[in-house]
Amino acid sequence: MQVRSAVIPAAGLGTRFLPATKAVPKELFPIGDQPAIQVVIDEALGAGIDHIVVVSSRSKPAIEDYFAPNEALLASLEEKGKIDTADRLRAIGRDWRVSIVYQDNPKGLGHAVGCAREAVGDEPFAVMLPDEMMSSSSLLAQMNGVCASTGGSVVAVLEVPADQVSSYGVIDPSGPLSEDGVIPVKDLVEKPPVDEAPSNFIITGRYVLTADAWTEIDALQPGRGGELQLTDALRAQAARSPFHAVVGDVGRYDTGNPLGFLTASIEMGLANPELGADLRSFLRDLDMS
Ligand code: G1P
Repeated sequence: MQVRSAVIPAAGLGTRFLPATKAVPKELFPIGDQPAIQVVIDEALGAGIDHIVVVSSRSKPAIEDYFAPNEALLASLEEKGKIDTADRLRAIGRDWRVSIVYQDNPKGLGHAVGCAREAVGDEPFAVMLPDEMMSSSSLLAQMNGVCASTGGSVVAVLEVPADQVSSYGVIDPSGPLSEDGVIPVKDLVEKPPVDEAPSNFIITGRYVLTADAWTEIDALQPGRGGELQLTDALRAQAARSPFHAVVGDVGRYDTGNPLGFLTASIEMGLANPELGADLRSFLRDLDMS
């Protein structure tokens, strides 16, 4: 079954980007001329998803403004002959649906995802953390296929040096990596100390979860850092059902901090057909001494 909905948790305060996030949600920071959240949405659409559920906060109304039609702006663009721009604005949410739900109390990622339950309904769904951006939809599409063929949940993972594992969720594999990058998983641990990590495969911010995850999310108790951790809900699933990880073979950008965001902007700018050539020649001419 093709996953239809993707949950994008976007209620965070963006403290690592203060003072910019005092006024502008980081999900709306531009990558070229697109807000960061649209890059994540485009990845979802490319994987066949057509319903985006944004978990926002009432203190970030600009996120809603991005999705709301603005007839006055459209009319003014058309009057000036800027038809292409008007068409691009009209395309926001035209062939796909967006639902906005609210997380009024930040209690952790598990809690944020749980806020989307009613909007998604009783079916498999994706979770996409907007602090990470992928260069292509192919990873999410492959995860969707693995979920459909195994009937179990799937997380995206990446192998990293041991000194990085304690900042992430880590999988405990129950078998070898297959040729197409799939690993069976028997357990998952949130931010383990290095010497307790069951592997070097960290969970990156993409998940395709079966509907029974909702029950586990609802039953979550505070875990690492006193927060309701999504990883703990998945560990309950892995203990009783097939569970797999897919090793990402797409470009991944950590956009959760200013340097990562800047480098992602540059790399995506270089890949952009309209900006790439000029940006490349600008970078080439920079005096790096
Ligand atoms: C969250 C998850 C963690 C995952 C990470 C990926 O952590 O809890 O399991 O590895 O995202 O970015 P956070 O970055 O919110 O602390």
